Amino acid sequence: MNDINVVVLAAGNGSRMKSTLPKVLHNVAGKAMIDWVLDAVLPLKPDRLITVTGVGSQAVRNHVGDKSRFVTQEVQQGTGHAVQQAYPELKDSQGITLIMSGDTPMFRSESLADFVEEHRRSNNTVTVLTAHAENPTGYGRIVRADDGTILKIVEEKDASVTERRIQEINTGVYVFDNQLLFEALSRVNNDNVQSEYYLPDTLDILRTMGYQIGAYQIQDFTESLGVNDRVALSVANKIMRQRINRQHMLNGVEFLDPDNTYIDAQVQIGQDTLIEGNVTLQGETVIGTGNHLTAGTRIVDSRLGNDNVITSSQIEESEIGNLVTVGPFAHLRPKAVLANQVHVGNFVEVKGAEIGEASKVGHLTYVGNATIGKDVNIGAGTIFVNYDGVHKFHTNVGDRAFIGSNSKIIAPVEIADEAITAAGSTITDDIEKHAMGIARSRQTNKADFWKRMPHKKDN
Ligand code: UD1
Ligand code: CA
Repeated sequence: MNDINVVVLAAGNGSRMKSTLPKVLHNVAGKAMIDWVLDAVLPLKPDRLITVTGVGSQAVRNHVGDKSRFVTQEVQQGTGHAVQQAYPELKDSQGITLIMSGDTPMFRSESLADFVEEHRRSNNTVTVLTAHAENPTGYGRIVRADDGTILKIVEEKDASVTERRIQEINTGVYVFDNQLLFEALSRVNNDNVQSEYYLPDTLDILRTMGYQIGAYQIQDFTESLGVNDRVALSVANKIMRQRINRQHMLNGVEFLDPDNTYIDAQVQIGQDTLIEGNVTLQGETVIGTGNHLTAGTRIVDSRLGNDNVITSSQIEESEIGNLVTVGPFAHLRPKAVLANQVHVGNFVEVKGAEIGEASKVGHLTYVGNATIGKDVNIGAGTIFVNYDGVHKFHTNVGDRAFIGSNSKIIAPVEIADEAITAAGSTITDDIEKHAMGIARSRQTNKADFWKRMPHKKDN
């Protein structure tokens, strides 16, 4: 008797997005809208969770995976018609059914739980979640009688001039008595401007049948934001990021310019980390405590320990220990692993390489496919030549080795502990412990060469 079903509508073509990507797969703060919706309803522990897919069905299903069951709406004939597709899955349920749209990513789980609770307390056959909108454009309007009871919902396109002035909007979230939901849906027609079967029409139908219908207004309009186009998407992103940043601040992370700091939903950050403006943290990134990320830094799917300073640099799929300094303008590409106290300086690129404790790669260097030991110094302008156009080759550099500036290290080579390369060398052979590899041609000076040079007359 007490069971709860959830239906998420995600079959529409989202034409107003003007995108090849199905609307519900567009990201808000790095997480697809459909995932925000599903993650908000999962704590309600639904007995059945059904997502209605249609346009881009396969892409949506692949993305969602086994979080939800699915039904298909082959032709998009409106939200009422979409819910009807779930009938085979729900026909035996004597419980209640929460319906949501896949394009309303802002609802908090707590607000939905309160709403369901409110419905259970009432004797309503259906309760609709409403909100007060400063600008109600685009939403269905809640039409109430003089005594305040709800009569019906009218879509903007079908609304009279007076109805369009109503600021109470339909958030697109409802709880229905499951059996009466489908009873009402069977009576919905498509006699409206869009020739669609509107889910909101079920309220008027149930009321006319003599059932009690109700409306519950959410406090914060921003939770009910529906994303139909890129303008609304940018608003949703902005509000979601403010929410995320605020939570990090409450957890002890310091922001210099939270309005211009872009942190994805899943990112974790330890306390006393200082984040300057225009920093972007994306994907499954984990940042420890006491780090300092300066303006312009972008970190994607990476893990940082504690007390690192990242100065205006790009870091992707990499791992950094503690007390590391990176940048300015360094680029850590996938599988860069920096041990504690490493320094990677300006205009350095590291890819598929481990750099051991306290080693330094200060300037204008490319380290690719290498294992570098501890306390190694890599001079300016060093290139690890790791690619022949087809294969990648690996280089090992031992502890305390000293790589002279402008060395070219043609992989694969083994440079032993405490080995040295002479500046300007092109290293093609292994270097044993304590040896210096030098590979450059001798300098010769041509005496009196100045005199053979052409000179301008007045010089
Ligand atoms: C809908 C409501 C409107 C409400 C608003 C809240 C209707 C008729 N209107 O309008 O009252 O204020 O949401 O955000 O319900 N969908 C399908 N199949 C369809 C049509 C739509 O699955 O045939 C899905 C869409 O993918 C979307 C959701 O239903 O996730 C809502 O559809 P949309 O076209 O965005 O409705 P709105 O115009 O926003
Ligand atoms: Ca919508």
